Amino acid sequence: MAIETVGVLGCGTMGSGISEVCARHGYRVIFREIDDDQVAAGLARITQSVDRAAERGKIDAAERDATLSRISGTTTFADLKECDIVIEAIPEHLELKQEAFQALDPLLPEHAMIATNTSSLPVIEMAVKTTRPSRVLGVHFFNPAPVMSLVELVKTVVTDEAVLNDARAFVESVGKTPVICQDRAGFIANLLLFPYLNNAVRMLESGFASREDIDAGMVMGCGHPMGPLALLDLIGLDSTYEILDAMYRQFRETMYAPSPLIKQLMTAGFLGRKSGRGFYEYEEAGSSRVKETGSHGRHVPDTAASHIRKIGVLGSGTMANGIAEVAAKSGYSVVLRARSKQRVSESLAAIEKSLAKAVQRGKMTEDQMKATIALVDGTTELDAFSDCDIVIEAIAEELEIKLDYFRQLDTIAPRHAILASTTSSLPVISLAAATERPEQVAGMHFFNPAPVMKLVEVVKTVRTSEETADAVFALAGKLGKHPVVCPDRAGFIVNALLFPYINDATRMLESGYATAEDVDTAMKLGCGHPMGPLALADIVGLDVSLQIIQTLYQEFRDPYYAPAPMLEHLVTAGFLGRKTKRGFYTY
Ligand SMILES: NC(=O)c1ccc[n+]([C@@H]2O[C@H](COP(=O)([O-])OP(=O)(O)OC[C@H]3O[C@@H](n4cnc5c(N)ncnc54)[C@H](O)[C@@H]3O)[C@@H](O)[C@H]2O)c1
Repeated sequence: MAIETVGVLGCGTMGSGISEVCARHGYRVIFREIDDDQVAAGLARITQSVDRAAERGKIDAAERDATLSRISGTTTFADLKECDIVIEAIPEHLELKQEAFQALDPLLPEHAMIATNTSSLPVIEMAVKTTRPSRVLGVHFFNPAPVMSLVELVKTVVTDEAVLNDARAFVESVGKTPVICQDRAGFIANLLLFPYLNNAVRMLESGFASREDIDAGMVMGCGHPMGPLALLDLIGLDSTYEILDAMYRQFRETMYAPSPLIKQLMTAGFLGRKSGRGFYEYEEAGSSRVKETGSHGRHVPDTAASHIRKIGVLGSGTMANGIAEVAAKSGYSVVLRARSKQRVSESLAAIEKSLAKAVQRGKMTEDQMKATIALVDGTTELDAFSDCDIVIEAIAEELEIKLDYFRQLDTIAPRHAILASTTSSLPVISLAAATERPEQVAGMHFFNPAPVMKLVEVVKTVRTSEETADAVFALAGKLGKHPVVCPDRAGFIVNALLFPYINDATRMLESGYATAEDVDTAMKLGCGHPMGPLALADIVGLDVSLQIIQTLYQEFRDPYYAPAPMLEHLVTAGFLGRKTKRGFYTY
């Protein structure tokens, strides 16, 4: 089917983006809005976005003008009468959408397809309001539409296969990657994304961490393009509420029940970027620039860590080596203690190798490398920590072993020294309680690979003193990291948000709704994640992932955290991911 003219219903956040995408790929676009003011606002939004693309050199001036010349706005449904496809992008209310479909249907040519951009409503409910249910489908773009390359094509039980093929060709013609889904609330990407976003709001609401720390955690700990709260502001809190509400109505599970804070902000008119305020305040409505309030974050002077001169690292694994390297690179003298002479030399070799790579890449000179290596002492003696100002423990994730070491460290390290653990899932307070200096014990959770990942979670137990928390925070900053602070709760910030999402993706795979490839493609292209959740779990290791999810479930006892049976079965079968060449994928 030849498509020349595209109709778009609604020219808000999504409608304007969809109009722009289609026009940039040569289609004539007519959008319909409710009144002249909204038409003008829609055109302004498109112009602003196209101008930005031109400023950034993504399109030239001629393309900019051609794009804009292909788009017109109207308030009259009848002006869409020549459209070959109409994409509806009006607010997420079923009745409103049904009315629009009914108004449109008799005006359109017989061959025209009608598509909805709904994120969560049943497409079939709109299809049956028309005389052409087989030509109705979901064409779900992602926000911002000009940037995100995923489009979910949603087929209902009556969508014609030929229509689906035409829609697929159309979506590809505007440079997007289609993934086919069944007509179920949330489809693939949102069904996984929104519970994660909702969880982040709950985390904020409970006072567990600040909005900046939650967002920085996911950006710097997981490489997401945006933190969850900034993303919610972009999506719009009213749309978010409607989407979660529709998912809840379909599945009746609390993970979809919109967090009360979303409703409160929405009721106050704080809808996110589009209204100039949501979780953050913006310079003006529609702006992406956050207003500097100057009030956020933990303010710690650099001097809080000035008494730290010598750093002890306990362990000889990936994390221990990485932390020792980072510390030496920042000029600290480091003593790394391993269990045997062989492990000591392996660790020192690993550090040298990593530094040599940095030299090769031009990130440091040969002399700097030599000086850095000279700062690291390897030993098998715990007593070598007797003049350290902080000891960072990075050994196996087993409570009994860690407890034993903390008892010993407490007798060896100087009285003023801080004892830190880089545990990902064990309670730091248990380690603190094994010592006579619980106020000087904190978590210092680095991410793998430590020399690369910017994030450090500083974990404050109920006994950690402010001075200790400040010192660890300032030290992380001096090591060139971005510290975030949180209490001592399972998963801290990042894992508590990341692993339930991975678990949820496993459940989706298990239910047969989508393949592993579709799940991962949807999250990569729809949300800009560097990797899909299943591929990521394969890298982390399914045994490690399961253990973190079990810890979270133990802590919260919420079904959202209950390990997916499939994950348990894969671990039982010995399919642990990349390290065993088989997990969700076969390598
Ligand atoms: N915001 C997102 O991130 C996102 C992503 C994908 C899909 N969606 C879905 O896209 C749809 C639109 O969401 P949005 O965020 O763009 O909303 P929005 O509030 O930004 O825009 C909706 C626009 O529709 C207009 N409108 C209302 N009734 C209309 C009608 N009868 N005819 C024509 N125009 C009408 C409004 O004036 C408004 O400009 C929803 O179904 C939403 O779930 C949203």
